[in-house]
Amino acid sequence: MTHEIAVIPGDGIGQEVTPAAVEVLESLDLEFSFTEAEAGDAVAEKTGEALPEETYELAASADATLFGAAGETAADVILPLREAVDSFVNVRPAKAYPGVDAVRPETDLVFLRENTEGVYAGHEDRLTEDVATLTRVTTQSASRKLAEFACEYVDADGFTIAHKANVMRETDGLFRDTVATVAKEHGVATDEVLMDAFATRVCLDPTQFDVVACPNLAGDVLSDLAAGLVGGLGLLPSANIGEQRALFEPVHGTAPDIAGEGVANPAATIISAAMLLEYLDYDEEADAVHAAVEATLAEGPRTPDLGGDASTEDVTNAIIERL
Ligand code: NAI
Ligand code: MG
Repeated sequence: MTHEIAVIPGDGIGQEVTPAAVEVLESLDLEFSFTEAEAGDAVAEKTGEALPEETYELAASADATLFGAAGETAADVILPLREAVDSFVNVRPAKAYPGVDAVRPETDLVFLRENTEGVYAGHEDRLTEDVATLTRVTTQSASRKLAEFACEYVDADGFTIAHKANVMRETDGLFRDTVATVAKEHGVATDEVLMDAFATRVCLDPTQFDVVACPNLAGDVLSDLAAGLVGGLGLLPSANIGEQRALFEPVHGTAPDIAGEGVANPAATIISAAMLLEYLDYDEEADAVHAAVEATLAEGPRTPDLGGDASTEDVTNAIIERL
C-alpha cells in the first residue's frame, strides 16, 4: 500500500532541512508518494494566506505530514495544521547524543504533551483595564486519550504523570485521576510528580525520569527545559499524533540568522522523519535512520552549530551513506 506523505517545508531553513529529510526517506525505497505544499511567511506575502486551503486539505488527507518551520506566521500555520491531523498528543523526545555538548549528557526523556486543551484552549478575556482572565479547560476524554496513548507507548515500563493538582485541584486533579485510572486499567505503572518539583529534579538528575505525561502548558515548558539539558535546538524532533494521521516537525524555527547558507543541521528533521517511519510501522527502517543519525553525530561530519564545518548536504549524504 502506498503511503501519501505531505511535505510542507515552510520558510527559512525549513526549505533546507525538509528536503534533506525527504532525501533520507527516498533513499529507503519504500512505497511513499510525496506531495509538496506551501505554508508560512513567503506564501502569505504572495497570497495573503499563511496556510492556503489546499495545504490544510493535503495535511488533513495525507497519511503523514513532514513540516519544516514557518517564520512570523508560525502560529497561523502550525496550530491549524495540528488540527488538520486531529492531533491529541505531542510526542517530544529530549535525548542527548554522544559527540554533542550537553548540560546533562545522560538525558533520555520523552514528553507526551496533551495537545488540545488546558490553558491553550483559547478562552482568554480582558475584562477591564486592570483585569485579564483565562479559563483552563481539562476534559476526561482528552486526558483519557493521552493516557491510552501513553500506555501503548511505554508497554510495561510505566510512566510519570507531571501535574500541579495540589493547587489546580479540579483541572489537574481531573487530569491526574483520569490518567492514573486509565494506566491502572491497562496494568501500566505510573508515578506522579508536581511539575515545579519536576523542573528541579530533572535538572539535578534526568535519569530519574523516562516517559512523562503532562497537560499542555506543563508539557510545553518542561520539554523546552529538557531541550536545554541536551544542548542543541538543531537536534530535537517532535510528532503530533492523531487518530488517523500525524504531523512530524523539528522543534526549531526558521533560523533566519543562518537561512540560505546551506549549513542548517538537518538532524532534528531527519529524526522527525524516523518518527514518521515508526508511526507508519516501518520499525526496522526507523531504527536504521536513528542509528545512522547517531553515528553521524558521534563521528561527523557536523554542521557549524555542533562545532563542525560541514554543510546540510554533507551531513545528509553521510547519513544516507551509513543507511
Ligand atoms: P529558531 O529555532 O529559528 O533559532 C534559534 C537559534 O537556533 C538560532 O541561532 C538558529 O540559528 C539556531 N538553530 C535552530 N535550528 C537550527 C538548525 N537546524 N541548525 C542549526 N542551527 C539552528 O528560533 P527563533 O530564532 O526564536 O525563531 C526564528 C523564527 O522561527 C521566528 O520567526 C519564529 O516565529 C519561527 N519559529 C517557528 C517555529 C515553527 O514553525 N514550529 C518554532 C519556533 C520558531
Ligand atoms: Mg514551546
